Amino acid sequence: MTEQDFILKSYNSTLESGSVKWESPSNIALVKYWGKKDNQIPENPSISFTLSDCKTITEITFIKKESKDFSFDIYFEGKKNEAFKPKIQTFFERIEIYMPFLKDYHFKIETSNTFPHSSGIASSASGMSAIALCLMSIERSLSTVDISDKIFSQKASFLARLGSGSACRSIEGELVVWGKNESIEASSDLYGVKFEGEVHSNFKNYQDTILLVDKGEKQVSSTVGHQLMHGHPFAEKRFKQAHDNLAKLKTVLASGDVNEFVKIVESEALTLHAMMMTSMPYFILMKPNTLEIINKIWAYRQKTDSKVCFTLDAGANVHVLYPENEKAFILEFIKNELVSCCQNGHYICDQIGQGANQI
Ligand code: DP6
Repeated sequence: MTEQDFILKSYNSTLESGSVKWESPSNIALVKYWGKKDNQIPENPSISFTLSDCKTITEITFIKKESKDFSFDIYFEGKKNEAFKPKIQTFFERIEIYMPFLKDYHFKIETSNTFPHSSGIASSASGMSAIALCLMSIERSLSTVDISDKIFSQKASFLARLGSGSACRSIEGELVVWGKNESIEASSDLYGVKFEGEVHSNFKNYQDTILLVDKGEKQVSSTVGHQLMHGHPFAEKRFKQAHDNLAKLKTVLASGDVNEFVKIVESEALTLHAMMMTSMPYFILMKPNTLEIINKIWAYRQKTDSKVCFTLDAGANVHVLYPENEKAFILEFIKNELVSCCQNGHYICDQIGQGANQI
């Protein structure tokens, strides 16, 4: 598929109004996307677990208008929200060429998250993918040709990527790859693809408990962080490492070697933060309690035969990943030793999910 293939060629704009609704999950990267080229093209491939319970629920109501400018209102958790408008405006501008009907309608976008807004959990992946899916449902009812489910998901992922890179990995489950990589034939820089390789039972229903270390606004956004990979002294090596780690992870997912899984995932998380610390300007998103939790996880792994490990996204919160058969022990460990490191003792229990749903 090329970008041209995603342009809606023929549509019928007799539809006066309607309403569509989707719920779309967040995802957590195992091999991290950090660094991008123009048009949201990633510098390296990434792979993520789709989450199950951390979701955005979005309803779009549309009504025909005179075709002039974009027109939309956003309601977040029932209240009109002006702060999200510029991001959606940019998104509409980027995707208009692929969805030429966007100026024909006024859109009322009503959105809410299942996780607390001020949790420091990035909602751009679930939020942008939910909007992309709603717009695809509208496209489906306007298009003069049938859109297969495969093309529907692919274009939703393609559009979501133009909203926020990692959002393209939230359409499907359980594992999604984004970015061209030799070891994964169907992989593309343009959209996420469901990981179709073998996945050992050790990785079924993998658990992710998110420890909320810092719920505040980040000092440096991901978008700025990505830009700082341009001219970064270690960029090329890092991009190559991500390719290699993805190929290794593919083998590990098939063999069920959880020890190797832990090494790749933790190294990816620390490398991501090492890139931030070695950018110019440099910055640190981890907090003292992030390190406290990492050390406690390492100590716990040493004294037990647990396979628990951690990963981080672009923030201070810690994602604790573990096999389903360790759930009872790890939740005990979290309650006894890690909750004290969380802001107001807050954490969220989640697990691998199957992707977005229309509701
Ligand atoms: C560290 O997808 O939030 O979570 O494309 O600028 O919207 P934009 O960035 P974003 O970056 C996410 C980076 C990450 C790693 C990952 O999810 O792969």
